Amino acid sequence: MSAPYPASVLVIGLGTMGRGIVRALRGTVTDLRSFDEAPVTDEPGARRYNDLADAARGVDIIIEAIVEDLSAKRTLLRYLEGIVPEAIIASTTSTFLPSGLATSPAQRRRLLLAHFFNPADVVPLVEVVPAESTDRDAVETVIRMLRATGKSVVRLQREVDGLVANRLQAALIREAMHLRARGVASAEDIDRVLTTGLGPRWSAAGCFEVMDQGGLDVWARVLRRLVPDLASGHECADEVDELVLRGQLGVKSGRGFASHDSDAAERYRHAVEGAFGARRDDS
Ligand SMILES: NC(=O)c1ccc[n+]([C@@H]2O[C@H](COP(=O)([O-])OP(=O)(O)OC[C@H]3O[C@@H](n4cnc5c(N)ncnc54)[C@H](O)[C@@H]3O)[C@@H](O)[C@H]2O)c1
Repeated sequence: MSAPYPASVLVIGLGTMGRGIVRALRGTVTDLRSFDEAPVTDEPGARRYNDLADAARGVDIIIEAIVEDLSAKRTLLRYLEGIVPEAIIASTTSTFLPSGLATSPAQRRRLLLAHFFNPADVVPLVEVVPAESTDRDAVETVIRMLRATGKSVVRLQREVDGLVANRLQAALIREAMHLRARGVASAEDIDRVLTTGLGPRWSAAGCFEVMDQGGLDVWARVLRRLVPDLASGHECADEVDELVLRGQLGVKSGRGFASHDSDAAERYRHAVEGAFGARRDDS
């Protein structure tokens, strides 16, 4: 258990991400609060408020984890600007950039992204992304709080769509779908290449270290030959659109690339916890 971190932090939105974020911060942040506009069940470890103005009173940091809708987020941010103009706001959006979220020049100095990964209490990584206008103090305050809870923080030097992790993931997914569409291997076998080969190795050493270990002379030849043959189009997005139109949404609809039973989400959570050596602590 990490040492107590004296701060007032409010998590707004108790959905998939907000709940995980509360679990990640509880026990460390001394005054942890939560608010959701819907009557969702409480997440233990945070003081739940029914009124946003009460919840936000005197907070140092607000973590915005509401629905991925720009107008809903901006309406909330405009309201917060009126009631707690001094609070730092960290949004966990996967889509919007900090410069496009802030609703006033003053808020632009105190708003940044803290992009968690689902399950947020299990995956250590948080990408922190300031806008050009974000005050350095605001960024450092959020990073200190996250590190106090044991998070692995990567601070991006500038805004970019998808940040680092989702860009790397999308590049890999495009090639995986290309290989599947060409009949080189099934989705299951491509996933096995990741889960029993590349993935565990990447958990020990990232791609730059893997290249250094293998020898850059070797990698120069590999890249020269392979890169021109890699997928570079947009077909993978069309293919996923077609699955969505057919109602194949993945685990939530029972079928995506594969069929899934009702325990699939729970098995996934356990598998991810196992991969990170996480201990279940629902107390
Ligand atoms: N789901 C993921 O894997 C994932 C990963 C990283 C980041 N994110 C980002 O996290 C954010 C939340 O995503 P999620 O998957 O948890 O969504 P979700 O739909 O599971 O939860 C959203 C919650 O916000 C509440 N809410 C909506 N509008 C509100 C408002 N105005 N005030 C207070 N509460 C409000 C809803 O009642 C709901 O409980 C999004 O910005 C998303 O891009 C999601």
